[in-house]
Amino acid sequence: MHLPNYMEARTRDKRNYKKISFKFDSKIKNKYKGKTFFIKTYGCQMNEHDSENISALLTSLGFKEVNDYQMADLVLLNTCSIRENAHNKAFGMLGRLKHLKQEKKDLIVGLCGCMAQEAIVVDEILKDYKWVNFVIGTHNMYNLPNIIDKAIEENSQQIEVYSREGDLIEGLPVKRVNDFKAYVNIIYGCDKFCTYCVVPYTRGRERSREKEDILNEIKSLISDGYKEVTLLGQNVNAYGKDLYEDYTLANLLEEVALLGIPRIRFTTSHPWDFTDNMIEIIGKYDNIMPSIHLPVQSGSNRVLKLMGRRYTKESYLELFNKIKDTVKGVTISTDIIVGFPKETEEDFKETLDLVNTCKYDNAFSFIFSPREGTPASKIKDDVPQKEKEERLQRLNEVLNKYFLENNKKLENKVLPVLVEGISDKKNMYYGYSDTNKLINFSSDKDINIGDIVNVKITKAKTWSLDGEYYE
Ligand code: 5AD
Ligand code: SF4
Repeated sequence: MHLPNYMEARTRDKRNYKKISFKFDSKIKNKYKGKTFFIKTYGCQMNEHDSENISALLTSLGFKEVNDYQMADLVLLNTCSIRENAHNKAFGMLGRLKHLKQEKKDLIVGLCGCMAQEAIVVDEILKDYKWVNFVIGTHNMYNLPNIIDKAIEENSQQIEVYSREGDLIEGLPVKRVNDFKAYVNIIYGCDKFCTYCVVPYTRGRERSREKEDILNEIKSLISDGYKEVTLLGQNVNAYGKDLYEDYTLANLLEEVALLGIPRIRFTTSHPWDFTDNMIEIIGKYDNIMPSIHLPVQSGSNRVLKLMGRRYTKESYLELFNKIKDTVKGVTISTDIIVGFPKETEEDFKETLDLVNTCKYDNAFSFIFSPREGTPASKIKDDVPQKEKEERLQRLNEVLNKYFLENNKKLENKVLPVLVEGISDKKNMYYGYSDTNKLINFSSDKDINIGDIVNVKITKAKTWSLDGEYYE
């Protein structure tokens, strides 16, 4: 048994990690043929992509994926700890699984992802959820097949969570959800330690993948017909810093662009590490999508300082304007937290002012959620919950106004759309524009999923656009 420890998870040193090629233990290959699994994924794209690896690992064990948890022999929750509600959702699901397990005694239930890295979660599992078969952390996820096998063979609860990042594993199998767009990890972990955030504790130190491994993965995606890659990391802008003297995200983006895949996206960017060089490269290549997620979190310098964000409203705006001026037609989206401890009405109004200046194309807004072990959770919180809820509502009204206003400017314009699927209505399709707008469109002609087609916008809505296929 290995239990998580936050003190250890917080340490950062420059010790070397090894790159290891993943090998599936041949003794357990296909051992569980005939059995089925279901993965419930919570949280960010990183988790979604981890689930694609997990799904491939379980498939190698012989399990077959089903899309109803009640039909599965193994249910795995790939969890998120970013806010309290993600936490509550996972525990709610565990409640339902407890009932299911009373009827289906052989059901195997496991928990992985960020919540597994939290000592309070593991303590609770040890105390009140003895029926959960295994818990595995983010740093040893590749070891899942052996842990599942051990839990089943020994019929005992397995808790295998390491607080520190270990080796960097290359060559994990992957079963991608899509066959036209793909996630590609470029950097793991985060060293920013924003005071409210658990990620630096649950995902460890920043570790970049070697550029050759990334480029080779993308080359093989291209030869498999993929149209879009999203380069993933908690803070992609730190790419390369831990590994190379002089090779950054700008260099990587350029090399990926030159491979010729039609669409490149990347997420998430911290404003602190966003260099002029990156902006130039994004503006220079047509296949780097003009859509940037640039979390601001707050418009008040006082709150930004309490959050440990390392920039001011002024320096954020300077960066924002530079991106807008250099990257033609770019859309910028953001994340905002309201109700941070000690946020005053004045601070909040500064956030509204900033939104009025930036007129974002999209945004995710949250109420501050104290996370165990983070510095912000220890700041005396004097903002009443009702006040926080009101601020969120006021913020959303302003954000929504600009989403619609920006979308209205697109009416009658023709946009390139990567078609993702067919909607319920006849002859209706949906997909995303280069600027990452969700577009529902009609077409009398049959359209292939995964194609990039032109769509003329007929109607703007707050969160999407309607259009018609345009030949
Ligand atoms: N409370 C509320 N929102 C949070 N986020 C991260 N940690 C917290 C927290 N403790 C938000 C930030 C981040 C996004 C992924 O989640 O806005 O950018
Ligand atoms: Fe969390 Fe800040 Fe790192 Fe983003 S940059 S993952 S908000 S610590």
